[in-house]
Amino acid sequence: MVESYSKNANHNMRRPVVKEEIVELMRQRLADNQGHLKELATFAKEENIPVIPHETVAYFRVLLQTVKPKKILEIGTAIGFSALLMAEFAPNSQITTIDRNPEMIDLAKENFAKYDKRQQITLLEGDAVDLLADLDETYDLVFMDSAKSKYIVFLPQVLENLAVGGLVVLDDIFQGGDVAKPIEEVRRGQRTIYRGLQKLFEATLDNPDLTASLLPLGDGLLLLRKNAPSVKLPD
Ligand SMILES: C[S@@+](CC[C@H](N)C(=O)[O-])C[C@H]1O[C@@H](n2cnc3c(N)ncnc32)[C@H](O)[C@@H]1O
Repeated sequence: MVESYSKNANHNMRRPVVKEEIVELMRQRLADNQGHLKELATFAKEENIPVIPHETVAYFRVLLQTVKPKKILEIGTAIGFSALLMAEFAPNSQITTIDRNPEMIDLAKENFAKYDKRQQITLLEGDAVDLLADLDETYDLVFMDSAKSKYIVFLPQVLENLAVGGLVVLDDIFQGGDVAKPIEEVRRGQRTIYRGLQKLFEATLDNPDLTASLLPLGDGLLLLRKNAPSVKLPD
């Protein structure tokens, strides 16, 4: 039994931002995971571990095969499901993935030892707050899938380490629809995340140094393309 997610499952995972029947259609009709990815997706579901949902998996397949990134950074490894998906669909990439939860790190290490056959994945253990500042590589794809209130905190460093023309994908940005409401209608416990996401939107959606898109897959993806060597963000 995996302890980390046994009690505090993110309730937004169960609040679809598009019609339930469309979510069902996407989950049933888009090609199933195969082999170890299927096994890991099943394990995550049984243990309540929040890995990317199936419609996002299918989107990533297309994105990775089209963009063919060589250097990928992921913030939020969990059991390594999305890192192994990226390794499979971007077979020429090197992937650095960061997590701070010891239980997830142990599971990810086991899974990488078994399934990262081309040795594409490097796991960095610790808080992204500390680790990001030490990265000296340039990435062409960054996948942010960690604590949502911190996206705006991590973004300046992530953009610094992103190639011009590179892409940042940020997961779970709709808060089950809360982001569209006034703050008074949002549960008190969710307001730090709400404020962080509003700051993220203000900094990115209409920024001339970025091209942004919002996709209603899972709890929402924000896509950012870096257009200039230095991206100006509000203070
Ligand atoms: C949603 S899960 C990642 C799921 C994974 N990307 C997948 O789809 O297979 C989020 C993970 O981010 C990690 N995390 C959250 N905040 C973090 C931080 N500040 N630094 C490092 N890891 C963090 C958590 O420990 C958790 O394992």
